[in-house]
Amino acid sequence: MTTNPSPLLIDRFGRIVDYLRVSITDRCDFRCIYCMSENMEFLPRAQILSLEEIEKVCRAFVELGVHKIRITGGEPMVRKGAMDLLRNIGRLEGLRELVLTTNGSQLEALAGDLKACGVKRINISLDTLDAALFKQMTRVGDLNTVLRGIDAAIAADFQRIKLNAVILKNRNHQEVRKLVDFAIAKRIDISFIEEMPLGMIESHDRAEEYYSSDQIKADLESHLTLLPDTTHTGGPSRYFRVADSETKVGFISPHSHNFCGDCNRVRLTAEGRLLLCLGNEHSVDLKQILRSNPDNLPALKNAIVDAMQIKPEKHDFDLSEKPVIFRHMSVTGG
Ligand code: GTP
Ligand code: 5AD
Ligand code: SF4
Repeated sequence: MTTNPSPLLIDRFGRIVDYLRVSITDRCDFRCIYCMSENMEFLPRAQILSLEEIEKVCRAFVELGVHKIRITGGEPMVRKGAMDLLRNIGRLEGLRELVLTTNGSQLEALAGDLKACGVKRINISLDTLDAALFKQMTRVGDLNTVLRGIDAAIAADFQRIKLNAVILKNRNHQEVRKLVDFAIAKRIDISFIEEMPLGMIESHDRAEEYYSSDQIKADLESHLTLLPDTTHTGGPSRYFRVADSETKVGFISPHSHNFCGDCNRVRLTAEGRLLLCLGNEHSVDLKQILRSNPDNLPALKNAIVDAMQIKPEKHDFDLSEKPVIFRHMSVTGG
């Protein structure tokens, strides 16, 4: 394995970028209410990067010092050929961690193959253990299918499995304890996420349903003990370990505990836009560079290095205003 002695991707604020999140499709078999509006228009096929193009961008990033790649969607496993792509990315020399974020809908069938492709860790969305509420929050998802997927992932023995729960007041905030108990019983981790205002949605008012990480933590601490934990995955979760268990509880708190100062990541959208911040539109069109110079990896790498100069300092999410970012979360997979 080769490692870069000095980082090649550094932004104007001295932050080192060593983590790439790659959305391989904006499509999904769920329609989670915080992520999508009910009627979404997805990108036409011709507009999205081919699997070969995605792999090329990943190679360029790894050569520039990125050692963690997270594959996201939409739901990544609905893209035809996703498994082959994962296998190829997993083989890139210098990559230390290939990880995946999924809604779990296909894990029952795919978990073993994902492990064999070199996926080290999996994050699975799960907002509730109540089947009716699950259907309401995903609009179309089936809880039992996802639970079977989680069991298949546990059986496949990934290095780590984490659940992600977006918590909305008076919708699923009363579920947090049950979700932690579930994670403890399954010996896996869980992160609670504050909803972010990306794209217009019609199902609820994001400000009214805001439920802070501190409130969740307080709710949990009336029943169990959370011990500070030093685990750092390179993502935004602040972790605590549940006393007398193997489970870590993470809090992803874009509103109440800003983590932009530690940002180490950029995102590739399915249409080939290199997005420098989840909460801003600063981006570089890598598809145009890829398609005008298909065999010119140095040109691609130069564009990526230059892009670091426009990485914004922080997001300015404000739940009391209409979203200023029109792109839905499904465009970046978080
Ligand atoms: P690991 O720490 O590697 O396990 O991953 P993660 O928790 O960062 O990734 P995951 O894909 O599971 O995302 C969980 C939540 O974190 C999603 O809601 C993401 O949108 C959010 N998230 C990840 N990175 C950022 C970021 O840079 N900014 C903001 N605001 N949210 C982020
Ligand atoms: N705010 C916060 N998290 C979101 N996710 C999807 N939409 C939003 C949003 N608006 C989460 C999903 C998934 C992760 C990638 O992003 O639940 O776990
Ligand atoms: Fe699909 Fe994930 Fe968005 Fe839900 S949060 S609609 S599972 S992309």
